[in-house]
Amino acid sequence: MEKVIKLSLIISIAINAVLIGLVSTQVEPRLTLFAGKNWTGLNLSLLSQDRSELEPEGFDNMAQSLCAVGTWLFYDLPYYNANETAYMNYLHAPNGTSIYCSNFDSVFSNKTSSIRFVGSPKSITAETLTLYAKTYFQGQSEYFTGDYSSPSLSETVSSLIITGSSPWTVFDRKGYSGTSWCIVPSGSNETTPAFVVDIRSQGIPHGTIRSFKKGCLNSTAVEVNIQKISPGLHRGGILY
Ligand SMILES: *[C@@H]1O[C@H](CO)[C@@H](O)[C@H](O)[C@H]1NC(C)=O
Ligand SMILES: *[C@@H]1O[C@H](CO)[C@@H](O)[C@H](O)[C@H]1NC(C)=O
Ligand SMILES: *[C@@H]1O[C@H](CO)[C@@H](O)[C@H](O)[C@H]1NC(C)=O
Ligand SMILES: *[C@@H]1O[C@H](CO)[C@@H](O)[C@H](O)[C@H]1NC(C)=O
Ligand SMILES: *[C@@H]1O[C@H](CO)[C@@H](O)[C@H](O)[C@H]1NC(C)=O
Ligand SMILES: *[C@@H]1O[C@H](CO)[C@@H](O)[C@H](O)[C@H]1NC(C)=O
Ligand SMILES: *[C@@H]1O[C@H](CO)[C@@H](O)[C@H](O)[C@H]1NC(C)=O
Repeated sequence: MEKVIKLSLIISIAINAVLIGLVSTQVEPRLTLFAGKNWTGLNLSLLSQDRSELEPEGFDNMAQSLCAVGTWLFYDLPYYNANETAYMNYLHAPNGTSIYCSNFDSVFSNKTSSIRFVGSPKSITAETLTLYAKTYFQGQSEYFTGDYSSPSLSETVSSLIITGSSPWTVFDRKGYSGTSWCIVPSGSNETTPAFVVDIRSQGIPHGTIRSFKKGCLNSTAVEVNIQKISPGLHRGGILY
């Protein structure tokens, strides 16, 4: 009798494990930085967390390699290069759920002083739009999951990142009016974010995004197709 109960308990745990595996497809962004190359040495792990400074963690200018899930931004200076344009690297870890490891290149090795993740803290595939005050995702940021009529960064927006597969329409007037552009992530059906390193290069002047809607709703909108980037680390900020 006891054996039967135990067995049925084990079976139900197994079934639950399978169900949880199937149901919770949500994967959170996470990152481990390593002081050594090839993901060795001292490490610092972050789960859906930003760090405006790494000095208090004892990890300033120390990272030589990383392992990550999701999309992450690495900056040469504290406060996400807000005070000064400098080197930065942006990472899309390929294939969503599995961990991706990489060395920083020789220029960016031992440089990282601040870090932030991109998109939803709960799911790396959620449909989100993040606006940044400076090109290459530097400076202040503002994160959205739906329509918004007057983002506070309006006057300065210079770059943006879309996660998930939905396009977004941006307008140069508040209240979803004026000239509009529909920004369409393109490429395969993998969940690669659309990285717009400089909106001006897509014909959208800096500081003109005054409202936006999720989806490609407006037939008068100029369609902007964003090429998906190859997985891995990419150079930004001051280019080298
Ligand atoms: C890192 O790994 C690569 C490939 O396995 C190897 O060639 C290289 O020597 C390693 N570097 C260090 C510093 O361990
Ligand atoms: C990080 O360092 C700790 C302490 O040395 C170690 O136990 C842990 O396994 C390391 N984590 C990774 C992902 O290497
Ligand atoms: C950089 O900017 C942040 C806020 O954007 C500010 O709090 C910080 O004091 C500045 N640091 C320096 C060194 O100017
Ligand atoms: C993506 O991840 C899954 C699960 O970890 C793995 O089975 C698959 O081989 C990976 N695909 C690629 C292209 O890396
Ligand atoms: C990074 O720092 C480590 C430890 O101080 C050092 O051994 C390594 O040579 C440095 N790498 C680069 C590229 O500066
Ligand atoms: C479509 O764009 C035009 C002009 O760009 C604007 O007047 C209109 O309100 C927009 N319609 C919707 C549904 O967004
Ligand atoms: C989308 O993914 C499926 C399953 O991995 C694949 O068979 C299909 O070819 C992909 N479609 C595109 C347009 O990449």
